[in-house]
Amino acid sequence: MKFILTDTDPQSKARAGIVKTDHGDIETPIFMPVGTAGSVKAVHQRELTYDVKAQIILGNTYHLYLRPGLDVLEKAGGLHKFNGWSKPILTDSGGYQVFSLAGTRKITEEGVVFKSHIDGSKHVFSPEGVMDIQRTIGADIIMAFDECTPYPCEFGYARNSMEMTHRWLKRCIARFDQTEGKYGYSQTLFPIVQGSVFKDLRKQSAEFIASCEREGNAIGGLSVGEPAEMMYEMTDMVTDILPKDKPRYLMGVGTPANILEGIALGVDMFDCVMPTRNARNGMLFTSEGIINIRNEKWKDDFSPIDTGINSYVSSFYSKAYLRHLTIAKEILAAQIASIHNLAFYLWLVGQAREKIKSGEFSAWKDQMVKKVSTRL
Ligand code: GUN
Repeated sequence: MKFILTDTDPQSKARAGIVKTDHGDIETPIFMPVGTAGSVKAVHQRELTYDVKAQIILGNTYHLYLRPGLDVLEKAGGLHKFNGWSKPILTDSGGYQVFSLAGTRKITEEGVVFKSHIDGSKHVFSPEGVMDIQRTIGADIIMAFDECTPYPCEFGYARNSMEMTHRWLKRCIARFDQTEGKYGYSQTLFPIVQGSVFKDLRKQSAEFIASCEREGNAIGGLSVGEPAEMMYEMTDMVTDILPKDKPRYLMGVGTPANILEGIALGVDMFDCVMPTRNARNGMLFTSEGIINIRNEKWKDDFSPIDTGINSYVSSFYSKAYLRHLTIAKEILAAQIASIHNLAFYLWLVGQAREKIKSGEFSAWKDQMVKKVSTRL
């Protein structure tokens, strides 16, 4: 993997660049649709390419390991061959998913023992095991095994957890560097900064992560319930420390406004379930603001969903029709809304990229944050 930083904004820390992988280039800043179990819910691979214009998607180690399982993925020749997505894939390590199984998991220095949400069977994730699993899944970018601390979190817990995440990272790196990709293309490992909302821990963690000198770095443990201002403050501190010549990935973030602020703070990559999950509940993000499509006010509004973002489904279908489909619980409602929301997120980061390149990012960002946060 290679990262080429092409432009920087004079008034903020925003940057534009290109991440080069064996499955193609990713133009940053970028939003990565979440495909937990190897599918972005309700969206075909063809739609992801041509309508959403996704350049990279996510998969989850936890879900893919449990189902379909590593034997199937290996026989298929890896996740790209299995699901037909030939562009880059990033897999999260399972750290985040396993830790959200409160009550059915036990954390030790060795790793995490957890029970499957599918059949209750018992499994162990260790830093080494999670590297091997992600080698078998075959993602281009794989994530270190970490603990995402909850919010709020006591200082002592956050410190111990961060220190364990750092020890786990050393084990991840040792295993990753001793092994090779199984399918003829290269993979890269991103470490994850933790430290909850404590400035000194965040600083310590960012310094440690930077010293590992991997090809890209991630910021975790944010967007877990803390106020947005706290998330920005932590991100700001961390991006001051992480190397400039490597991509930075802010995990699990966020709303359109969070993403624009994150870009201004020097983040290059984002992922979040919000555009797809909220689409399935009738919440649409548009270039004019946020719409609850179930609302009576859209009943006979035959105007297109959003003509501002150059997306086929968003210009073709009306708000009234999508409202009808949503209320009638038609499957097509989830499809249209998911494609629209993702197309909007990809449009937004694409616009940010253009504005960074033309030197107009900061003023545009302030206006856009207001616009995309408006409830219509
Ligand atoms: N997704 C959102 N936040 C996190 C995090 O802190 N760690 C991991 N592994 N995944 C995440």
